[in-house]
Amino acid sequence: MRIDIISIFPEYFSPLELSLLGKARASGLLDIRVHDLRSWTRDRHNTVDDTPYGGGPGMVMKPEPWGEALDAVASGGDEGAAPRLIVPTPSGLPFTQQRADRLAGEPWLVFACGRYEGIDSRVAADAAGRMPVEHLSIGDYVLAGGESATLVMVETISRLLPGVLGNAESAVQDSFATGAMAHLLEGPVYTKPPVWRDREVPPVLLSGNHGAVDRWRRDQALRATARNRPELLDRLTADDLDRRDQEV
Ligand code: ADE
Repeated sequence: MRIDIISIFPEYFSPLELSLLGKARASGLLDIRVHDLRSWTRDRHNTVDDTPYGGGPGMVMKPEPWGEALDAVASGGDEGAAPRLIVPTPSGLPFTQQRADRLAGEPWLVFACGRYEGIDSRVAADAAGRMPVEHLSIGDYVLAGGESATLVMVETISRLLPGVLGNAESAVQDSFATGAMAHLLEGPVYTKPPVWRDREVPPVLLSGNHGAVDRWRRDQALRATARNRPELLDRLTADDLDRRDQEV
């Protein structure tokens, strides 16, 4: 997958060189290119913002550098292919695991990181004539800019790509994963030693009985969900429930 990120703070993205994503980039599974928006400014001060029409607090990002940046970045594909443009904004649709799964199937994403009060709205309208555009929010809070939201989305999407996680199963077991554990939060996890500071690992996990372990994990997941996110249980359908769940 190719991911282009446009920002006035390219240094913000150095964490993408670490750990799983760093390895995926080194192995060629992931091609991440970070661009400095200011390289598409034409004035001496590399201006990227201006006061909002209609008044109000803060500044708005100017359309000209964004237009040129997107023209340059989005024209760099193979055989005229267009990327999907993601604009992180607290006013967007919620970024969920389901959206991440869908985006992980795309060959090419471009993230446009706004600062201040956002990017002049004509930029996304103009881009939409050439490529699909999605405005996405990572949660009901306001960040100082789209950079940290982009880090969250890029990490969430990248770990779903085949070959990026060491153990392909671990993405399936996660909280919010689709499949057997859909809509459930992950329960507690343990490793060696079996007793630590007088606390024992639940004996079922040492039993070697895989059926009993699966059942215990599912019960713990149901419990964690009921405690922390009870509204998620409403999303379980009869098909999501196995036989014992229905007896409970
Ligand atoms: N930019 C500022 N706040 C944001 C949020 N919650 N999600 C995505 N982008 C943002």
